[in-house]
Amino acid sequence: MANFLADDQLTKSEIIALITLAIEIKKNPANFNQVLAGKSVAMIFEKPSLRTHVSFDMGIAKLGGHALYLGQQNGKLGERERVSDYAKNLSCYADAIVARVFENSAIEGLAQHASVPVVNALCDLYHPCQSLADFVTLAEIFAKDNIADLAKVKLAYIGDGNNVSNSLMLMAALVGVDFTLVCPEGYGPSQAMLEKTQALAQVSGAKFTFTTDINQLGQQDAIYTDTWVSMGDEDPSKKATILKVFAPYQVNHALMEKANASVVMHCQPAHLEEEITTALFDDEEKSVVFQEAENRMWAQCAVLTSLFSDYSN
Ligand code: NVA
Repeated sequence: MANFLADDQLTKSEIIALITLAIEIKKNPANFNQVLAGKSVAMIFEKPSLRTHVSFDMGIAKLGGHALYLGQQNGKLGERERVSDYAKNLSCYADAIVARVFENSAIEGLAQHASVPVVNALCDLYHPCQSLADFVTLAEIFAKDNIADLAKVKLAYIGDGNNVSNSLMLMAALVGVDFTLVCPEGYGPSQAMLEKTQALAQVSGAKFTFTTDINQLGQQDAIYTDTWVSMGDEDPSKKATILKVFAPYQVNHALMEKANASVVMHCQPAHLEEEITTALFDDEEKSVVFQEAENRMWAQCAVLTSLFSDYSN
């Protein structure tokens, strides 16, 4: 693995190896505490972050490395300096670059011009660190004894077709997980993203369903939701319409029961009483949101370990 930019740049076996490695690091972190010894990671954040910032920082420390946070004090990527110059300058000092950016083109530009590995910590199109952590979580719950059981999981995402749903559906299609995507009319993924997912699902044999009809949800093991408005898309004039259009797609106890789902997932931050009810988010039997949050760190440790060694190859 040279970079970690988008889910569909990985193969099924690479994803399974990363999931297995994340679980292994989580069990025995001390065995990995020299993986990044003497190495520094520059972390660029164009958008706010709690989990991503902290989990990378703490995870890099666990691997024996050093993390440097770069906010917007040096100007927006590509404005004060070209993306290519950002990449080339950071490559002079850092051993890897982690970046949360507005546009996927910025991640692609960093990867093209950096001489060190680049990790996508969220862009407008993908959030692969999140999807990897979520598949680690699904493996822990549904494939404890045999990772192959992951392919029996039925996962549904309900809400806005965004970076998180794109990454989840691509990863599901790659590893062979049945995936149902339910978005209101006009809020689904791009045609290109749908076609990519369908093509991958055909290869793995996974079932992929996209519908705007919440009544088509069917029986599921896990139901996932995310904010109805992603960072950078906030427009107060659209808020009232969004609340109205998305209301029937709220994930709550009634929906969980109807789908017979045992687990609810959310990447956070949650907008309580919008995409998910407070009662369900806080339901300690069904909600695995903090397990997902913790697994961000282990999943990212697996990514960094793979970039700097041949653990998962
Ligand atoms: N879709 C959300 C994910 C936040 C982790 C956003 O991009 O704001």
